[in-house]
Parts: sequence; C-alpha cells; structure tokens
Amino acid sequence: MTRTIPVNQNLVEMEYAVRGAIPRRAIEMQRTGRTIYACNLGNPQALGQKPITFYRQVLTLLEAAENIDRERSLARVAAANHQLFNESGVEPLSNYIIDYSANFLEQCRTGMGAYTESSGPLFIRAAIARFINRRDGDSIAADPEQIFLTDGASDAAKRILELLITGPQDGVMIPIPQYPLYSATVKRCGGAQVNYYPDEDSDWALTPEILGEAYRKATADGVHVKCIVAINPGNPTGAILDKPSIDGVVHFAEQHGLAIIADEVYQNNLYGGTFISMASAVGAREIPLFSLHSISKGFAGECGHRGGYMELRHMPQVEGTGMNLAELILKQASVSLCSNTVGQAIIYMLVNPPEKDSAPYGVYQEEKNAVLGELEAKAALIKESFKQMEGMECFGRTGAMYLFPRLNTLPSGSNDFDYCMALLEETGICTVNGAGFGQLPGTKHMRIAFLPPRETVTGFLPGWIRFHNRYVHRPQI
Ligand SMILES: Cc1ncc(COP(=O)(O)O)c(C=O)c1O
Repeated sequence: MTRTIPVNQNLVEMEYAVRGAIPRRAIEMQRTGRTIYACNLGNPQALGQKPITFYRQVLTLLEAAENIDRERSLARVAAANHQLFNESGVEPLSNYIIDYSANFLEQCRTGMGAYTESSGPLFIRAAIARFINRRDGDSIAADPEQIFLTDGASDAAKRILELLITGPQDGVMIPIPQYPLYSATVKRCGGAQVNYYPDEDSDWALTPEILGEAYRKATADGVHVKCIVAINPGNPTGAILDKPSIDGVVHFAEQHGLAIIADEVYQNNLYGGTFISMASAVGAREIPLFSLHSISKGFAGECGHRGGYMELRHMPQVEGTGMNLAELILKQASVSLCSNTVGQAIIYMLVNPPEKDSAPYGVYQEEKNAVLGELEAKAALIKESFKQMEGMECFGRTGAMYLFPRLNTLPSGSNDFDYCMALLEETGICTVNGAGFGQLPGTKHMRIAFLPPRETVTGFLPGWIRFHNRYVHRPQI
C-alpha cells in the first residue's frame, strides 16, 4: 500500500504559472527535436546574454585569491613587454581589476567560503547605501544598518511576507496582473491575497479609486489589510509607473497605515520612461517601506547567482515586544546564517561599478549599453508587430523584459491558455498566458519575455503574425 503523508496544504495549493503547463509542453516538444523560442522566462543568460566581463573577472580572483599575486606579476611583465604580449594575444587583467578584487577581499576579511554577517558585510551595505543616495539624492540618506543582503528578491519577498502575515485574516494587496511570486508567497504564508487592478488603458496607472475599492472590498470581507506590493517596472506588464501612481500608493499606504513592498528589480530596464523609486516618494513620511533589488535583471542578468538586497525604512515596533521590526528581521536572517557570498559580491559590483576612466570602464559601458539597447530594440520590434495582429493591444511605457498585450478578439470558446498553447504548437514560440498572472475578469492576455537574440525575434515574428490572424478567425472552438 502506498503511504500518504499530510503536508502543509498551503504549499499544495500554491501555483506558479511561469513554469506551468505551457513551458512543460515546450520541453516535451524540444525533446522531439522541435525548435522552441523561449519567450516565457526572464532568465537572460539562459537565452544567450553574455555576463558582464568586469563581474566575472573580479569573481575569478575573489574565488581564487591565490591568483591575485600571479595576476599582479603578469600585469607587470605585460607592462614591460608590451610587444610580446600584443603578439601573444593574451590580455592580462588590468591593475584596476586586481586592486578592486584585493580590496574587496581585504574588506570582507574572511574570504568567499566563510559565513558573513547575517545582514551581509557592512562595506557592501555601505556601498548599497551610497548607490541609493546617488540614485535618489541624499536628502533622506539610506542607512547601511537598514540594508539586508538576500539570495535574490524572491528570498526578500518571502522573508517580509513571512513576518507580516500572522494568519488567514492578514491581507496583502497585490497588483493584478502580478509576478506570481507574490500570490504564491501569500498562499504559502497562509495570508489573504487582496487584488487591485491597475488601469490597463491608462498605461497601467494607479488611482486612489482603484486602490480604495480593493481595500474596501477586502475590509468588508473581514480581511485586515497590512501591506501593499508595488512592482515597478512591472512584471508581467513591463509598465513603468508614473509619478501620480507612485505618489498615490504612498498616500494610500499612509492613509490606511499600510507597509509598502516596492519590488524594483527592473529599475535599470527602462525603454520608455523614468524610474522613480518608492523610497524617494515616501521621503520622511513614517510609512514602513521594504525596497527590493536584485542582480538577476537589469543588464547583469545574473539570475543563477542569487543576489539582491532589501532596504528597510521607517520600521515600526513589534507588538508585545520592545523590539523594532528591523531587529526581528536580523534575527530572521541569522537563522539562515547569511546570503551566498557570490551573490553578495555581484550586488557589490552592481552598485559599485568601475570608475570612469578606469581600464575596465569602456568595455563595461559597452556591454551594459549593448544589453539594454538590444532589449529596447526587441521590445520595439515586437510592439510594432502587434499592430499587424488583429485585436492585439499593448499598453504601458515599456520597461522590464516583458510585453503583456491584450487579446481582444479570440474566437469564442477559446481563452488565452488555448491561444498560447496553439502558438507554441504551431510556431514553437513559448509564452505565458495572462491567466497565469491574474487579469481583470473578462480580459485575455499573454506575456512575452523579449530575451531571445534579436535575429531570433526577427525570425519568428512573421510566423506569429500569420498564426495570430488565422487563429482569431478560426470557427468557434
Ligand atoms: C518582479 C519580480 N520580482 C522578483 C523576481 C525574482 O528575482 P530574483 O531572481 O532576484 O529572486 C522576479 C523574477 O522574474 C520578478 O520578475
């Protein structure tokens, strides 16, 4: 007889569509030799994006510190024997890279293989604080003691929600559509998901009415709303929030005594607007704020190395204790000992890039601009193609790595899942249907991640346009 075991039901009920039925079918098709265009995941290096050379050169020395002396000697020999080195085609590491790496190791003292402080080494947190101050202006300076390094933003979101959700009555406001990390984590922590619906036709803007309506409904159902998640730029919408929307979230949170979780992992992926951080909008107001950043996105695309940080502002006292919430977060971090050190090193490099006029600066800038330029070009190409697809509409000032068009004219009896599955079967283009992220009832969408190389995108777009215009005219399914 097969044994059964009761487990945490929240995990059984948790869903994560980004790795759901459509990508599973794509894997099956790939096994039979079909070409698949993976437009379902925001995983840049899996789709050919090259790592930033500066990051990897420093990482090699951090992991093999004994090579630092060898590289120094090599650099000296190279400087003295220019011609020989030019002819050999070997390029020694620059002194800047060597010094940068040595300096990192000197500051962290215990090397890459040791546990670090639970919140992450102070010098990295201080570098993050300087980055935030450069980004936002330092009228309200970031405090390194309120910064925690994490194994990516997913880890941060999990930690925050685990703390805030005390039971099934505790509500978390989530934009719909949303990146399913949030619905899944609220579920896993046993809380209540409270949906709010950004206005798609106004480029996914937020208004006091939208937020107020969601809050009222939840409260009427007995839910105690505790915090609001804002994802900017958005996943899956790709939309960049405008100033009135951001100020609206801040005002709303203040009015209702909510904490804000600002997921800002795409803050460097901007192709049609400017990024306004939630921290700058909150300013001195006493609103508890958790801001999340990551090495996975932007131009770094270092998803597999799992790095990121959360910045806390205006943390309240914990009920029934003399403790500030930041202290509890430190205790929580201590239980996992520390985040991984490679992720820590990359977030350090992300916020502390090579200085202007340093040897690696030129290549670094070139690589960064190339990645962001390609993303922008691919987004524009795909958006342009939508104009040739009947009933396809796409809103939002483009950011992140996604477009989330609305499928206005699907044949009756067919939904967005059917569309995306048929698109996969007929063209090999693997996307995620809108329902996987949640969508306004009655609407149908799909998300396309524009990460495959530009020539691949250019190659599959005509087939998609043909597929689409045939599909929408199919007789009732
Ligand atoms: C909005 C958003 N937040 C967080 C994450 C996860 O980031 P990380 O790799 O840092 O855990 C993703 C990944 O796609 C995302 O889209």
